[in-house]
Amino acid sequence: MKLLDYSNVLKFVSEAEIEALEGAVLVSKEKLLTKFGTGSEYLGWVDYPLTAEKELDRILKTAEKIQNEASVLLVIGIGGSYLGAKAGLSMLSPYLGKTGKTELVFVGNTLSSTYTQEIIDYLADKDFSINVISKSGTTTEPALAFRLFRNLLQEKYGDKAKNRIYATTTIGKGVLYQMAKENGYETFSIPEDIGGRYSVLTPVGLLPLAVAGIDIKAIIAGAQTEREKALEKVYPDNDALLYAAIRNLLYRKGKAIEIFVTYEPKLKYLGEWYKQLFGESEGKDGKGLFPASVLYTTDLHSLGQYVQDGRRILFETVINIDKPEQDILLKEDAENLDGLNYLAGKTLDTVNKQALKGTVLAHVDGSVPNLILNIPEISPYQFGRLVYFFMFACGVSGHLLGVNPFNQEGVEAYKKNMFALLGKPGFEELRERLLKNK
Ligand code: PA5
Repeated sequence: MKLLDYSNVLKFVSEAEIEALEGAVLVSKEKLLTKFGTGSEYLGWVDYPLTAEKELDRILKTAEKIQNEASVLLVIGIGGSYLGAKAGLSMLSPYLGKTGKTELVFVGNTLSSTYTQEIIDYLADKDFSINVISKSGTTTEPALAFRLFRNLLQEKYGDKAKNRIYATTTIGKGVLYQMAKENGYETFSIPEDIGGRYSVLTPVGLLPLAVAGIDIKAIIAGAQTEREKALEKVYPDNDALLYAAIRNLLYRKGKAIEIFVTYEPKLKYLGEWYKQLFGESEGKDGKGLFPASVLYTTDLHSLGQYVQDGRRILFETVINIDKPEQDILLKEDAENLDGLNYLAGKTLDTVNKQALKGTVLAHVDGSVPNLILNIPEISPYQFGRLVYFFMFACGVSGHLLGVNPFNQEGVEAYKKNMFALLGKPGFEELRERLLKNK
């Protein structure tokens, strides 16, 4: 089963245009492999799946320790330091209940006092441990959450609290590493040459997922498969390169928004992760597609009208899962008052699939190009494949666009203003300016 099906964009982009972009695409790919492009100091993720195996045993051992000591693991992190684990967890756990013994609770990804207090209350009668994840070690949201929950842990376990704290950070650098060293927390490495949004396949994503009981070896195997395809396959057969090329062509033709579409709610957070990956990688220098995400058929009853009929600046990338984890056979009803007997003998997933097909056709008719990504099923292996596919395509796509896909200077603007308004030392001048403008 081929991952990328682009037959539904050929009304908008021709095979000749796709072929003509080959040279530029290959140059962009080479920038990732030979490290001569902008941001080349952040390319550690390209080969990481090959070396990840070295880390896996220690991650699994620690995960087992955490499972035995805690019913809740607090995962503290924001942006790339949380979205990958959150995406993996929601894709790979049952809707109700959890995969393993230990529940993951994510904090430090919001400054909401209500959310934070509710988590504090939730932990009152639970054994918990902390995995604090921050590459820089200085990001305000997780740093603040770490302070609050570290104190809570100390109140509960006294001197032993430090044995329940696991820090994932840059080894040898930053405040979090210093704290870990001084207090003896177990540490896991975020390699310096891997940026946050490309770090899900490192301990950043793998430790929490392993604690949740998810097969992280299978995730890495999936990533390795997709890596090999992305690196080895020639252009016309290379899904990641074709995807990058087609997004670029659509962008040049005036499409401004790419919508990640899933018909399976479990993939909602993969959509959030995808938005961060592409948004932070490409949205710069006044350029870039705006990444959005929807859950169909739910959102066909809210955003469907706009997609079908609003401004023609959209295209969609639809995830199609061939075989659902569960299916339900629809039966005849003697009275048929709801008129649904025409569905008897079919399954609920067949209805979902026909909704997908019908929507693709309707949206393409309405001038919304549709790319389809086919995966055979939901599994850790397929999660690893998708993650690597999107990361590689994103790196190529960013270079095609002419931006550095690995920096995120735009994120600093709000932080500076927030620090100034909160009275952080060193921001006095900015504070004065902001208050004057008020
Ligand atoms: O992708 C990125 O680099 C960012 O989204 C970071 O992951 C996010 O800002 C968190 O940074 P840190 O891990 O340094 O706390």
